[in-house]
Amino acid sequence: MTVTAVIGSQWGDEGKGKAVDFLAGSMDYVARFNGGNNAGHTVINEYGTFKIHLVPSGIFAQNTTGLIGGGVVIDPQVLIDEIEMLNKTGVGVDDRLWVSPRSHLIMPYHKILDGLYEEAKGAGATGTTRRGIGPVFADKVSAGATGTTRRGIGPVFADKVSYNGIRWTDFTSDMFEQRLQVQLQLKNKIIIALGGEALKYEEVRNTYRDYYSKLKPYIKELFSLVQDGLKAGKNFLLEQAMGTFLDTDWGTYPFVTASTTIPSAASAGLGIPPRYITNVIGVTKAYTTRVGGGPLPTEINDTDSEVYKKFGEVAATTGRVRRVGWLDLEIVRTAVDLSGVTELCLTKLDTLSGLEEIQVCMGYKLNGNNIRYADVDAYGLDKVELTYKKVKGWQQDITQVRTFEELPQTAKDYVTMIEESAGAPVKWIGVGPQREATIRR
Ligand code: GDP
Ligand code: IMO
Ligand code: MG
Repeated sequence: MTVTAVIGSQWGDEGKGKAVDFLAGSMDYVARFNGGNNAGHTVINEYGTFKIHLVPSGIFAQNTTGLIGGGVVIDPQVLIDEIEMLNKTGVGVDDRLWVSPRSHLIMPYHKILDGLYEEAKGAGATGTTRRGIGPVFADKVSAGATGTTRRGIGPVFADKVSYNGIRWTDFTSDMFEQRLQVQLQLKNKIIIALGGEALKYEEVRNTYRDYYSKLKPYIKELFSLVQDGLKAGKNFLLEQAMGTFLDTDWGTYPFVTASTTIPSAASAGLGIPPRYITNVIGVTKAYTTRVGGGPLPTEINDTDSEVYKKFGEVAATTGRVRRVGWLDLEIVRTAVDLSGVTELCLTKLDTLSGLEEIQVCMGYKLNGNNIRYADVDAYGLDKVELTYKKVKGWQQDITQVRTFEELPQTAKDYVTMIEESAGAPVKWIGVGPQREATIRR
């Protein structure tokens, strides 16, 4: 029996979806345990190309059962669309996808408030920080917006922990109606005060009752299923959403997301005792990207540069352009330490092909002394001096390479440098977005 957590070791979008898809073949259960549809996980396999937001990315493996734990917040329309799409494409999720009745629902007011809060804080702030384009950090980020996905994530988690949430279990009685009435009284006052339009009880009620009737066949308490599975020695794959540095506690607060993104979240969010989680795979992009505000220490600001164009990506959830930077090994090392990463899955090595020289941040200094990421806060990161190492690149296209030995020597050196510096072995190397474009070591 193994319980393996797959986590992103940077600011999200490391390639977790692809990793979970190729690992799911040997799993009995694949589970989401945190976040919501702020996640966008890309999967490319024999069924096609998918951007998955809520259903575990391992669902394509026909032997697996998908679980959405109580730690996940659910926008019902997004889940309904995803289920329909997966059923239509022949993946088939009926009788093998279960949603916890403990999961909280994203309500229309959560999405409205997410937007209104962002506007109030100054939605223009991208938080692009350092080196090259002036004192943007101090001016824009100090009280600036987080640059959320506007999916209602912050407000729904705020309601969850302040006892104002609505869960699937509330639909089994008129508790849903009772709770909705109270919430609308509260939320409409705030919405109106911030210049928005009040929501109508009947409309919201009917829409959500309709969602419940569509999703009811998938809602089931997961406790016994998970406990029986653990006792029977089944294999579990736990798919984290977002990345380590978007974690509410350990990320670059307040430029973070509203849920815990380290493996311990699976304990509460799915009901797995921590001691069962023995494998933690840290998915690490060969460079760094970030969407939204907040510090990105190794950020590349020269939008005309070859490397900026090479690294460029469009966000899977919001369609925003992802900010890019060189690989930051202090960040990866911190993720390895924090989450007890046992193996690394290095993604997008192919994207580095063609660069003469690659830069890597090996560590941080403050006033001439070595420091760790955790020694400063999000604002303090702007004052940190980065120790860069320049390494030789490789010119060959490596997208067809399937063994470590076949990689150019400089690519092998890059991989070795990462594992030595981060403190965990690189077991998988991504050389393309498709499932099979993976080197196993
Ligand atoms: P996730 O949120 O961690 O699942 O990552 P995303 O799907 O949001 O972003 C990762 C992007 O990198 C997607 O466009 C993937 O298709 C792509 N990708 C993942 N692994 C590789 C790889 O090894 N090589 C290349 N070229 N693309 C990859
Ligand atoms: P996956 O699972 C990258 C970022 C947002 C914003 C901050 C808060 O695909 O890696 P939120 O909507 O969560 O309140 O936004 O977190 N963010 C992500 N960035 N990948 C994600 O998920 C993200 N989920 C949230 O851009 O900066
Ligand atoms: Mg993503």
